[in-house]
Amino acid sequence: MSAAPEPVAARPSPDTEAIRDAYLSLLGLCLCDLAGAGTISAGQNKLDGKSGEEIFSTPLPAERQVARYTGMDWPMNGLSMVGLSRLKDLQSLVEQIVADGIGGDVIEAGAWRGGASIMMRATLDSLGDDRQVYVADSFAGFPEPGRIEGGPEDRLDLRGIDFLSVPEDQVAANFRKFGLTDNVHFVKGFFEDTMATLQGGNWALIRLDGDTYDATRVCLDTLYSGLAVGGHIVIDDYLMIAELREAVDDFREEHGITDEITKIDWNSVRWQRSESGPRSEPGSVAGGVALSEIEARNPRLPDAPSLGEIEARTQLGEIKAQIAELEAELEELRNSRKPLGRLMKSIRSKTRRKR
Ligand SMILES: C[S@@+](CC[C@H](N)C(=O)[O-])C[C@H]1O[C@@H](n2cnc3c(N)ncnc32)[C@H](O)[C@@H]1O
Repeated sequence: MSAAPEPVAARPSPDTEAIRDAYLSLLGLCLCDLAGAGTISAGQNKLDGKSGEEIFSTPLPAERQVARYTGMDWPMNGLSMVGLSRLKDLQSLVEQIVADGIGGDVIEAGAWRGGASIMMRATLDSLGDDRQVYVADSFAGFPEPGRIEGGPEDRLDLRGIDFLSVPEDQVAANFRKFGLTDNVHFVKGFFEDTMATLQGGNWALIRLDGDTYDATRVCLDTLYSGLAVGGHIVIDDYLMIAELREAVDDFREEHGITDEITKIDWNSVRWQRSESGPRSEPGSVAGGVALSEIEARNPRLPDAPSLGEIEARTQLGEIKAQIAELEAELEELRNSRKPLGRLMKSIRSKTRRKR
C-alpha cells in the first residue's frame, strides 16, 4: 500500500477561508469515521450478492488507516466509503464549478449513507451557493441485473449485500446531523425507473457510484446530455469494476466523447465536459423529492438534547450528589446524638438527684 498523508484536519484561524477549509477537512474526517480514537472496517466474505453471508467487522489499526484515506475498505460506521482523498477531490470540483460560474445542479447517483453528497452540499453551503443537490438511490440496495440492454452477459448481482442498502430516513438523518437540509432532494427508486424523471435537468457536476453496468449506463443515458460545458462527471470504480468501465467506454464511443479522462486515484476517474457528446435543451428537473417531504414522511429521530438541557441535567446531578452527601452527614449526626442523648439523660438524672 502506498504512503498517504496522515488524515488530519486543517487548523482553523480567524480568517474566513481558513475556517471554511478547517470545517470541510473536519467534515471529511467525520464522514470517513477518522475523527475518533479508533475505527472499524466492515466486510463480507463473498461478494456474489447471493450468499446473504453476514457482515464481519474488524478494527482498522492506525498503521492501516491509509485504506480509509484511499477508500479501500468499507467503514462500519462512517457515512462514506469513497475515502478521504476522493472526498477532497469532490470538494475541489464543487469549488471549481462555483469559481468557474458553471450553471446547473449537482447529483450523486449511488449515495449509500450519503457521505459524498453531504460533502457536496456542505461545500456549496460554505460558499453561499444555493444550487440544488440531488441524491439518487434506491435506498434499498441493488436491483436484479440485466434490465439495461448491451453490456456483458454475466453481470454483477449485488442484491444480497444488505450492508449496501440504507433506508432513506437514515440518509436524511445523516444530512440533518450536519445541519445540511436545505436544497437537498432525494430521488428514491431504482435508476432504471427514476432516471427518466430527471431528464431535462441541468447539471454542473454528476457523480456516478452505482457499481454496475446497468446503473452506470442508465445514468449516463439520461443525465449526461444535461451536463453543462465546463461541468464535471466523476465515475467511481471505473478502474476497478470492468462491466462499469464497459458502460462508460461504450457510451463515450457511441457519442464521440473524447474529453480526456483524469485519474483521481487507484479507483476513480473524471472528465470535464467539452462541446462533444449529446446535449439536451435546458429544462427543469421534476423528479426530486424535497428533503423536508422525506422528513415529513418518515418519523423524526428523537431530537438530541440541547446544550441548555445537558447543562441542566448536569446541575441536577450535582444537586442530587450534594443532597446525598448532606443526608449522610445528617445520619452521622443522628448516630452521634445517641451518646449525647445518653449523656444528657445521665446529666439530667444526676441533676434531678442532686435537687
Ligand atoms: C457503493 S454504494 C455508494 C457509495 C457512496 N457514494 C458513498 O459515498 O459511500 C452504491 C449505492 O448505489 C445504489 N444503487 C446501485 N444500483 C442502483 C440502482 N440500479 N438504482 C438505485 N440505486 C442503486 C445502492 O443502493 C448503494 O447505495
